Amino acid sequence: MTSPQPDTAGPFGIYVHVPFCATRCGYCDFNTYTPAELGDSTPAGWLAAVQVELELAAPRVGSRPVDTVFVGGGTPTLLGGDGLAAVLDAVRAHFTLTPGAEVTTEANPESSSPALFARLREAGYTRVSLGMQSAATHVLKVLDRVHSAGRAPAAAREARAEGFEHVNLDLIYGTPGESDDDLKMSVETALDAGIDHLSAYALIVEDGTALARRVRRGELPMPDDDVLADRYELLDAALSAAGLHWYEVSNWSAPGGECRHNLGYWDGGHWWGAGPGAHGYLDATRWWNVKHPKAYAQALAERRLPVADSEELDDAARHIEDVMLRLRLRSGLPDAVLTAAERVRAEAAVTRGLLVRAGDQLVLTDRGRLLADAVIRDLLDD
Ligand SMILES: C[S@@+](CC[C@H](N)C(=O)[O-])C[C@H]1O[C@@H](n2cnc3c(N)ncnc32)[C@H](O)[C@@H]1O
Ligand code: SF4
Repeated sequence: MTSPQPDTAGPFGIYVHVPFCATRCGYCDFNTYTPAELGDSTPAGWLAAVQVELELAAPRVGSRPVDTVFVGGGTPTLLGGDGLAAVLDAVRAHFTLTPGAEVTTEANPESSSPALFARLREAGYTRVSLGMQSAATHVLKVLDRVHSAGRAPAAAREARAEGFEHVNLDLIYGTPGESDDDLKMSVETALDAGIDHLSAYALIVEDGTALARRVRRGELPMPDDDVLADRYELLDAALSAAGLHWYEVSNWSAPGGECRHNLGYWDGGHWWGAGPGAHGYLDATRWWNVKHPKAYAQALAERRLPVADSEELDDAARHIEDVMLRLRLRSGLPDAVLTAAERVRAEAAVTRGLLVRAGDQLVLTDRGRLLADAVIRDLLDD
């Protein structure tokens, strides 16, 4: 019997998770820790552990070159320019980056500066993704953001001035108290900063967050689905008019400004996820690391991979992921991927104006994008 060949087709990426934040935003349930929650874990200890994880990862990945690197968080910019340069050096010490590789870091507006962006460019970063969320002060307050309304667009301008061609701003829409005009102002402010990419997410009330408690107590009224649909249309119209077109339901870019790392996730690529709580996917195996920085550093101090658990994706699970992720892309999903029963349901969605055929691809229509989750659920429903 021959052993299965590694699936080396498609892009390969490395994600590095930085699990630190100065304060926690009330809506966020990402794996991140404030100084009070960290105990004796430090960024220096985290960096030493990540260096070992990348060293242990390299022989498992083999010779495939790295097309994209994405440092996310948490707040990577708390590491400072030298810390982020050291992360990229550690990747380069054990992997080969393809020429023209995309190297992104997330950046918080309040912990970035021209000097930081200059250092990041020098180190080899090619793309910056800043959390802006809103340009309205009262919205930022509900979200517990610590930066001023003007700081995120100012940081985006600074990144561009220091030589970053690719700059993203994240917006959140549908925050309690946000008006249509607030969102319009946020989009215009983001566009004025000269970015080539914008991500916009409807506010999700995650269980266990401070936001969820406030919503449950009736302090913060959440907008209904019709309001969210109107806001999405407003965003899409303003962004398209400015030459940023959707390429995934929540992501818009100028031509060539797409985030190649995220496209890898959505389009069946493989990646190594380093850092506490990071997920990886290689050759049909998906795994995830232990979440707390202390347990993470402990495992790596013993030169063990800090894997909490893993699963093998069988064909059925891969099919579901493929449909869920690729149907959200503007490039769409090839008809041939679908089962006979799914094709019948896809035809019904075409008739209802939710999907359209582009060659042999099925693509969400404008109305379909508003109902993307339901369209995907219906398609997969046996
Ligand atoms: C994990 S954060 C990291 C970015 C960076 N720490 C910052 O906040 O500026 C990435 C993005 O996820 C989005 N996000 C996080 N939690 C969310 C939620 N509950 N609902 C909608 N978007 C959320 C925000 O737009 C945020 O900028
Ligand atoms: S949104 Fe960003 S800054 Fe706020 S807690 Fe989450 S990761 Fe930290």
